[in-house]
Amino acid sequence: MQTILLTGGTGYIGSHCCIRLLESGKKVIVLDNLCNSKKSILDRIELITAKSPIFIEGDIRDEVLLETIFTKHKLDAVLHMAGLKAVGESTKNPLLYYEINVEGSRRLIQACQFNNVKNFVFSSSATVYGEPDYLPLDEKHPLRPANPYGETKRVVEDILRSVSFSDEGLRTAILRYFNPVGAHESGLIGEDPNDTPNNLMPLIAQVATGERTHLDIYGNDYPTEDGTGVRDYIHVEDLVDAHILALDYLLKEKQSLTVNLGTGKGFSVLEMANAFSKASGKTIALKTCSRRQGDAATSYTNPSKADELLGWTSKRDLKKICEDQWRWSYQNLLRNGGNN
Ligand code: NAD
Ligand code: UFG
Repeated sequence: MQTILLTGGTGYIGSHCCIRLLESGKKVIVLDNLCNSKKSILDRIELITAKSPIFIEGDIRDEVLLETIFTKHKLDAVLHMAGLKAVGESTKNPLLYYEINVEGSRRLIQACQFNNVKNFVFSSSATVYGEPDYLPLDEKHPLRPANPYGETKRVVEDILRSVSFSDEGLRTAILRYFNPVGAHESGLIGEDPNDTPNNLMPLIAQVATGERTHLDIYGNDYPTEDGTGVRDYIHVEDLVDAHILALDYLLKEKQSLTVNLGTGKGFSVLEMANAFSKASGKTIALKTCSRRQGDAATSYTNPSKADELLGWTSKRDLKKICEDQWRWSYQNLLRNGGNN
């Protein structure tokens, strides 16, 4: 049985990955400090899979803890998702982002070296590209992140590239996510941040559930078809598919890879709000306001490299994304006692 260390495994993407890893018969060790997730997610994981990961509440920067974990368990691979991800917060507090995302990752990579763990999957982001020079974005596009969060992702990618070229021979899968959205189809697991969400999809969902009066549209004067920003929204379960394939690739091909993970298709803010309205049967009240600083007009991937190397393409369409997101959002609100 393969043993996988999953950092950030109680978070949004991590919890979905944890389910699939358990379902595919792997032993999963989750390391998470719960700064942006809740321990109760573990009960939901058990409800869905009838299995449990080994949960360790702790910080990826804790070298003593890392050594204990790596010595106690013979790890086949690390899936590294723990970190901070709020672009605005990273601009206000860049040192925190460098400390957790870069230094935390460096310590984890070092623990892999010390303990001869050879396979490492890293959650990177399309934000490493910055403002696109051309579209669709492919993996050869220059890396020019426009905020500290993106910089931390690029630095960790650089560290992983250097280490994988060194004698240590760490094999790395660098996965650059576009815009992860949607939820597990059970309605039991989804994005559940400890703070106010920053991203479009959970904000639209909050308008539909009545937790929010309206959606602010950050600019309707972009050079796009309807003037609102266009992004490549990818179902979280499609991302999970890609992680499982990337893990297999590392273990079987014994080579590193860097791939974009998106659908290859862009949708505007208005298209997202309309699709969600259809799926939920709710009106999404909209208010146009000024552009958000640093937002690109359009971003979507050329998904062909992930297809070529992993045989991966996205399978779940926008309707499925909205239906799953809606099921999760209203069920979660009910579980939390409604919005009054
Ligand atoms: P999330 O915040 O839901 O999950 C991250 C998890 O990491 C949380 O459970 C948090 O408690 C944990 N964590 C944070 N700092 C930690 C630390 N120092 N030690 C241990 N645990 C810590 O975020 P997510 O959306 O699931 O993102 C997972 C990864 O994917 C992140 O690295 C993120 O940067 C990356 N990513 C996310 C998106 C997105 O839009 N969701 C896009 C691109 C890349
Ligand atoms: N938007 C609104 N109103 C809102 C929130 C967002 O109009 O209240 C618009 C934005 O202007 C943008 C689109 O919706 O056009 C998507 O915005 P998100 O904040 O959901 O996503 P971003 O593309 O800005 O950034 C996200 C993550 C980053 C990640 C990046 C690429 O937040 O961490 O995708 O993966 F790096």
